[in-house]
Amino acid sequence: MESSELHKIIQGIPKAELHLHIEGSFEPELMFKIAERNNIVLTYDSIESLKKAYQFNNLQEFLDIYYAGAQVLIHEQDFFDLTWAYLTKVHSQNVVHVEIFFDPQTHTDRGISFDVMFNGIYKALEKAKNELNISYKLIMSYLRHLSEEAAFETLEASLPFKHLIDGVGLDSSEMGNPPSKFEKVFKASAKNGYKLVAHAGEEGPAEYIWEALDLLKVVRIDHGNRCLYDESLVQRLVKEKIALTLCPTSNVALKVIQKMEEHPVAQMLEKGILVTINSDDPAYFGGYMNENYYETAKALNLNIDQLMQLAINGFEASWLSKEAKEKRIIEVKDYFNSLST
Ligand code: ADE
Ligand code: ZN
Repeated sequence: MESSELHKIIQGIPKAELHLHIEGSFEPELMFKIAERNNIVLTYDSIESLKKAYQFNNLQEFLDIYYAGAQVLIHEQDFFDLTWAYLTKVHSQNVVHVEIFFDPQTHTDRGISFDVMFNGIYKALEKAKNELNISYKLIMSYLRHLSEEAAFETLEASLPFKHLIDGVGLDSSEMGNPPSKFEKVFKASAKNGYKLVAHAGEEGPAEYIWEALDLLKVVRIDHGNRCLYDESLVQRLVKEKIALTLCPTSNVALKVIQKMEEHPVAQMLEKGILVTINSDDPAYFGGYMNENYYETAKALNLNIDQLMQLAINGFEASWLSKEAKEKRIIEVKDYFNSLST
């Protein structure tokens, strides 16, 4: 398929994004603008020099820059602007449903109150629901390089807002911070009505995916690339319809794979795993949803049926109601049918 044709097709697909860190959508231009109005001097003297620093050899090198960038977010308006910028961007790409992560500890550990951070994000999501017709779910992520005790404090701080938060996740430095470290706080989170997900098998071993399933009892795995090293795990994912939220451009940027041609998404589809395409931290990895679909499709030569399956999976694996899911899946099928007529 020609590049321009592929771009056009991908643009038109109604899409769901299930793996997006709102702090990872912080574009350098907005970062400089917010830093200036908050009288914060960034370590980089220009947008260009900041962008040049976006060369990573692994997850940790990225996380160091990502946490530093988030430090300029101080006021509710800052969190609102960050979230609104992401939502208008994905709206332009025909993303109609998002399930986004936020990392409270990145902010509360700097003295920003939970409600300042939360209200900014929440108000932007509500505005997008009303004005852009984007539905959403919100996932609070615990930072796994910190202690379980610190995660418990975050859970406690979230409780006044728990009717507005759909789930909890687990992110940050994976190696050496296995899911088992957070077994108790995930149990307590579930008791408070939160759905559960966790990053596992991005850099860490298949064993961490087993732990996320068996100890944390997650309903979805974020990334999960490493499952392919363990055939019995693959069988379990297929049998229990456990979705993986894959992030192709992130995997290349963080050297989880060396090049896009090595991405496992086609192999996973072939095995019947419920895989979805997502952007992770688009401002840092150079790709929102369309770019992730496009780069993957191009490198792996995905056909129309595979693209349709990926789009359907995005809604299937979402936390939308059964009726809303069915409606969106019909829209996806109608769209692909319209292409062949
Ligand atoms: N936080 C933001 N992006 C992340 C990723 N890809 N893995 C782990 N933690 C993250
Ligand atoms: Zn992630």
